[in-house]
Amino acid sequence: MQDVLIDSADGVMTLTLNRIEKKNSFTQAMYSTCADALLQAADDATVHVVVIQGHATIFSAGNDISDFLSRGATGPDVPVFRFLRGLATFPKPLIASVCGPAVGVGTTLLFHCDLVYAGDNAAFSMPFVNLGLCAEAGSSLLAPRMMGYHRAAEALLMGDPFMAEAALEVGLVNRIVPPTEANNVAQSQARKLAAKPLPSLIETKRLMKKGQMAEVLAQITEESESFGRLLQAPHAKEAFTAFMKKRKPDFAKS
Ligand code: COA
Repeated sequence: MQDVLIDSADGVMTLTLNRIEKKNSFTQAMYSTCADALLQAADDATVHVVVIQGHATIFSAGNDISDFLSRGATGPDVPVFRFLRGLATFPKPLIASVCGPAVGVGTTLLFHCDLVYAGDNAAFSMPFVNLGLCAEAGSSLLAPRMMGYHRAAEALLMGDPFMAEAALEVGLVNRIVPPTEANNVAQSQARKLAAKPLPSLIETKRLMKKGQMAEVLAQITEESESFGRLLQAPHAKEAFTAFMKKRKPDFAKS
């Protein structure tokens, strides 16, 4: 089975995260597949809308942690950076359907989506600090802007999960639905958008995003540099090793 399923129909390209046995955690190959799909969707006139969805029990556990341990290079050509840049600059409507845990990039990618539908079991978290890392995907800029500074600080510094109701309250999601219906709701909204005039959708999105586009891209680059440095440091190594060995990290040793 492929880890990301790609399907196009009726003007809607759907990316389904399909690595359920590892809780849809992202490998480099999955970032690459998603980045390529977004590039293709941006250029393909028959695609009007992209939907990113997971399973009724899990959206994504974020970056694959064993993959973190082996990740070396940073820079604009690495798959995760291509994916984040593709999300931030995607010119057409981008919809997410989120159920169950949405950890790390599983939450931060949502800051780049235009519409987000959440199952009532959705749990969002950005535990970068707990892993010895820092905010990524522009979240250090977009989370305070969307959620307010103190709520963003709680989410990013404490790393505790917040549930669908809290995400609705801060405007990170548009609607809460039963988990078994989330993907259908996202698809139905996507088809409604796909039937609208594409140039008007593109122009309206461009006008809404243009004020912060350069700032967001600069923030993603700066975060990536810090993230790459912290990835190689002892705190992160201890956090990843602890996760793989199913024990609590001990940062006193790092
Ligand atoms: N990277 C690699 N493997 C992961 C993973 C990740 N981010 N998240 C989960 N997995 C793996 C587990 O190691 C486990 O593998 P195993 O069956 O070989 O032991 C399998 O997926 C199931 O995970 P498990 O933790 O048993 O599921 P759960 O339902 O109890 O909890 C989560 C789900 C998402 C809450 C939990 O897996 C989790 O917190 N994952 C780590 C999230 C994280 O810190 N991501 C990095 C963000 S930057």
